[in-house]
Amino acid sequence: MCKVKISITEQDVQYLNDWFFHYVQTFKDGDKNVQENIILKENHTMQVCKEIFKIGKQIELNNDELRLSTIIALFHDIGRFEQYACFKTFVDKKSVNHAKLGVKILKDNNVLNRLDESMQSLILRTISYHNRASLPEKETDTCLFYTKLLRDADKLDIWRIVTDYYNQKNGKQNVALELELPNTLGISEEVYQDLTNMRIVDIKNVKNLNDFKLLQMGWVFDINFDATFHCIQSRHYIEMIGDVLPKSKDIQNIIRIIQLYLGKQVKEEA
Ligand SMILES: [Fe+2]
Repeated sequence: MCKVKISITEQDVQYLNDWFFHYVQTFKDGDKNVQENIILKENHTMQVCKEIFKIGKQIELNNDELRLSTIIALFHDIGRFEQYACFKTFVDKKSVNHAKLGVKILKDNNVLNRLDESMQSLILRTISYHNRASLPEKETDTCLFYTKLLRDADKLDIWRIVTDYYNQKNGKQNVALELELPNTLGISEEVYQDLTNMRIVDIKNVKNLNDFKLLQMGWVFDINFDATFHCIQSRHYIEMIGDVLPKSKDIQNIIRIIQLYLGKQVKEEA
């Protein structure tokens, strides 16, 4: 699968896991809203570790590669805790780029020092790319591979979080999960154009919650592994987001195009 020799021990993973939990613990003494969002990101991290492991197993990564994948998932959102504690938002453009902040935290605390320099660099680069609109152009195949793996695993768990949130019965609002967007009528023309042309939505065109939900649906156009397409389909994420959108002709058209694309990806591999 990857040409680069990956060497990471079970002890390394254990040490880094312990560091993660100890670090997150230091953010758990804030007010209720802060704690809720810190725990949300802690749980998200655990889930992304599970998702990346599942995809990794399906594509037959070896144990070293699986351990590296787990470490990348473990630290991909390490910047989120300080971001929320300092700025009370997950909106990068209103605060900091959480991926870059994560890299800085890992470096400042010498967290990865026990690993080879090449492994450290690979992990930090992958984390720094995980929230970009698209993949970097000049990178090694190995780095691109792990970046794709992380981006798929991350999206799978964000779909879980948002579909749980949209379908929750208590109706409790969490503005942090809605990127503080207004719940106004209609959708943006640019969002419609992006999705009907099978492109991911440019975040700068997202004007309201409907646009944001459509952007989340459109992540299918940025999925890299067959195993991920399977999960999206079997967990009904597209239908669940569709259920909480207005039933307009434009939206129905977008959903039809997305479902067709997803169906084709799943079929092609069968
Ligand atoms: Fe994430």
